[in-house]
Amino acid sequence: MTIDLTLNNGVVMPALGLGVFQSPPEETSAAVETALAVGYRHIDTAAAYLNEREVGEGIRRSGLDRSDVFIETKVWVTDYGRDETLHAFEKATGKLGVDRLDLLILHQPVPSRFETTIAAYQALETLLADGRVRAIGVSNFTPAHLDRLLAETEIVPAVNQVELHPYFSQPDVRRADEQHGIVTQAWSPIGGITFYPGWGEKRRSVMDDPELAAIGADHDKSPAQVMLRWHLQEGRSAIPKSTNPERIAQNFDVFDFELSDDELARIDALDTGERSGPDPDVLREELFQRVIPEA
Ligand code: A2P
Repeated sequence: MTIDLTLNNGVVMPALGLGVFQSPPEETSAAVETALAVGYRHIDTAAAYLNEREVGEGIRRSGLDRSDVFIETKVWVTDYGRDETLHAFEKATGKLGVDRLDLLILHQPVPSRFETTIAAYQALETLLADGRVRAIGVSNFTPAHLDRLLAETEIVPAVNQVELHPYFSQPDVRRADEQHGIVTQAWSPIGGITFYPGWGEKRRSVMDDPELAAIGADHDKSPAQVMLRWHLQEGRSAIPKSTNPERIAQNFDVFDFELSDDELARIDALDTGERSGPDPDVLREELFQRVIPEA
């Protein structure tokens, strides 16, 4: 049995989805097809991953009805602005080969030009009102970014997708999301950001954590499965990335065991308070060099 989350507008989202960040385009369709065959019904992509076309192809190859798959994608910062973001929707749906998205979110705030973030979000509100998207949200928003957004817009985001794994479990963001009725969605939910090759050699991989190994051994599950179960039991959505068929299947095999309150607390206690990914308050100019191609 899988787990669904009901978003703040009543839309139902499968809590566990396949992530495709850094999935090479040539491997993405196969990964999506494998995931849908083993039971996933939620795929998370982004314009900036440059693999939306292959995600659409994988979904079509699965033979499932469009309405059986929850498709989430993100608008990149170079497409922020009212008209730009409306056009970004056309680019995304054109590449995915669908008319409607289940969830469209802003990839990250642009703190130094927040008015463009607001304009982009207002375009999402228009798309929602017009029935082009079923839910809208944000990503990499801190509680302060959320406050700024909520002060200037009408619709409370359904989802806030942030870096979240046992070494950086974001209690402040989770609390703010909960207060506003926003579902927290974990990116790098099994801590890939702590061990991606080439992302800083001194990182400590959460995958090697002895506490997670010990908890996993007690349930005959891997550290990745323990982490995913932890997200699900704490009410979050999680979108683990894999292009490997066995690991795609392993990451979905998390509905037949239960962590105790004590085990959840032991995992919560692993938080270091230090992120591995980029600080959403620091705007890196190179992010504005990335232009999203037309469909
Ligand atoms: P691969 O695609 O070769 O499976 P995250 O989503 O937390 O960022 O993690 C993604 C990283 O974790 C990728 O490097 C992925 O590699 C790897 N990965 C995915 N699933 C597992 C698993 N069950 N066990 C170990 N590594 C995994």
